[in-house]
Amino acid sequence: MRLNSPRMNVIYNACMKASKSLIRDFGEVEKLQVSTKGPGNFVTAADKRTEKIIIEELLKAHPDYGILSEEIGEINKENKDHRWIIDPIDGTLNFLNGIPHFAISIGYEEKGEIVCGLIFDPIKNETFFAERGAGAFFNNSRIRVSKKNKLKSSILVTGGPKFNSPKKNDIFQEYIKVSNLVEAPVRKFGSAALGLSYVAAGRFDAYWEWELNYWDVAAGIVILKEAGGFIEFIEPETPASFKRNVIASNSSIQEELKAVLMKKNIE
Ligand code: IPD
Ligand code: CA
Ligand code: CA
Repeated sequence: MRLNSPRMNVIYNACMKASKSLIRDFGEVEKLQVSTKGPGNFVTAADKRTEKIIIEELLKAHPDYGILSEEIGEINKENKDHRWIIDPIDGTLNFLNGIPHFAISIGYEEKGEIVCGLIFDPIKNETFFAERGAGAFFNNSRIRVSKKNKLKSSILVTGGPKFNSPKKNDIFQEYIKVSNLVEAPVRKFGSAALGLSYVAAGRFDAYWEWELNYWDVAAGIVILKEAGGFIEFIEPETPASFKRNVIASNSSIQEELKAVLMKKNIE
């Protein structure tokens, strides 16, 4: 793995260590203790275990760095300059159902900007990572976004609807509508982090989803940008909300996709 900096090494090692237990847990998925944390967002014992290993490793390397992680929340809150953003399992519902499509996502933020990140799919053994200015990688190879410049000839990926979203029907309608409007296939695989990674690797041409959390996309931001992609955050309808509406693409079809999505939003 061409990890250029000590920081990327720290992320990689934490991720690999955590993934060993995650893979084991995936093998025993039925036996896992499952608790609910609001509708549509399940927390599993594996989730917590994975998170604990990652955090222990990251804190070992930098005890004073801030952490924002989905299950545990914030650590070293006062450190706003150096912060890890963690989603221990992105694609929990897949994980719970024994569907081999989920990932660990770890981003590193400096003074509010994501500068490096890694997304690891432990079942397919696929690692997507990037560091600002150093390009994006899939395992050992450099990746670039696709060159498609027409929505019509693209393949798109989205997520949702969330069970707890008041707009769940709208979001579902939107999904159907966009497929029709662009006359392009739209897929839903259940992992935002892998959705972004796949756009970075040129497997998909664009990804969008409303009401995401920062940890869903943090590592993906730098991976996509370094692969030549574009990611945009659209102001959510409730400005107080910390959720993010995301439209991301290979750059070339960004405006066309945004126009379709925003048009539908006004209707
Ligand atoms: C979820 C996944 C899913 C997306 C949801 C996320 P989680 O994250 O990324 O693809 O549609 O919006 O919350 O709960 O599995 O970490
Ligand atoms: Ca997530
Ligand atoms: Ca998660």
